[in-house]
Amino acid sequence: MELEGKKALVTGGTSGIGREVAKQLAGLGAEVVISGRDAARGAETVAEIEAAGGVARFVAADLADFEAIAALAEEAGEIDILVNNAGIFSFAPTPGENRGTFEAMFDVNVRAPYFLTAALAPKMAGNGGAIVNVSTMVAELGMAGSSAYAATKAALASLTRTWASEFAGFGVRVNVVTVGPTQTGGTSSMSENELGFVTGLTKLGRTAEPKEIAEAIVFLASPRASYITGANVAVDGGATAVLG
Ligand SMILES: NC(=O)c1ccc[n+]([C@@H]2O[C@H](COP(=O)([O-])OP(=O)(O)OC[C@H]3O[C@@H](n4cnc5c(N)ncnc54)[C@H](OP(=O)(O)O)[C@@H]3O)[C@@H](O)[C@H]2O)c1
Repeated sequence: MELEGKKALVTGGTSGIGREVAKQLAGLGAEVVISGRDAARGAETVAEIEAAGGVARFVAADLADFEAIAALAEEAGEIDILVNNAGIFSFAPTPGENRGTFEAMFDVNVRAPYFLTAALAPKMAGNGGAIVNVSTMVAELGMAGSSAYAATKAALASLTRTWASEFAGFGVRVNVVTVGPTQTGGTSSMSENELGFVTGLTKLGRTAEPKEIAEAIVFLASPRASYITGANVAVDGGATAVLG
């Protein structure tokens, strides 16, 4: 199998896109560490992977807690693939943004992937490591009400390019996937108006299934993408590429 002998860490592997990524990586033979806060959903995901013949374990980590980032890196050990997927989103007009929500989004969406990558990327040296970051189309297109969330993901897209440069010498590739509206537990909390508006911006005129996003993430994490680094791959139904 393509990823036999590889070890992967998927943050936010207990739900939505991350869960599909974990399942697909394990299906290709990788040993997968799934992180998240919800132990029950973690155990469910591990059981699903094991039932399909894969290898996975769950590590509980609240990535809003700075100390938990180093603990997760330690628990994961040496890995070949890091998918910085865990993220939270909340929408508000800028004058109405709540300080706690603002800080939580920056902590989980920027600080956690930053220090996780800092801890894990150097250990990938020589192993042909791959890091895939997960961003959003609203980091590329101005959408009223998305200021803080969009800024966190724009930061992650920028970090992708810097890390591609910093870690190329270690043989580590770093890419970002720009995601369009996808049916997950996360989007189930969005109003019909919010989700409908974003879906209307896609040229395919529909939301994605988590597995459609996972396919692109897993491709970038695999040796099939061996000459791709620093790229921003849009998996957004054409929303950021096509006018009208
Ligand atoms: N769905 C979309 O339409 C969409 C669009 C663009 C971009 N994205 C991005 O795609 C990624 C995945 O989104 P999703 O829709 O699949 O979300 P989701 O279903 O809400 O899942 C989010 C995942 O992140 C984890 N997570 C959240 N806060 C955490 C924290 N403080 N510490 C550790 N883990 C935490 C959750 O784990 P626990 O609950 O177990 O903690 C869960 O596994 C996010 O980065 C999101 O911004 C999603």
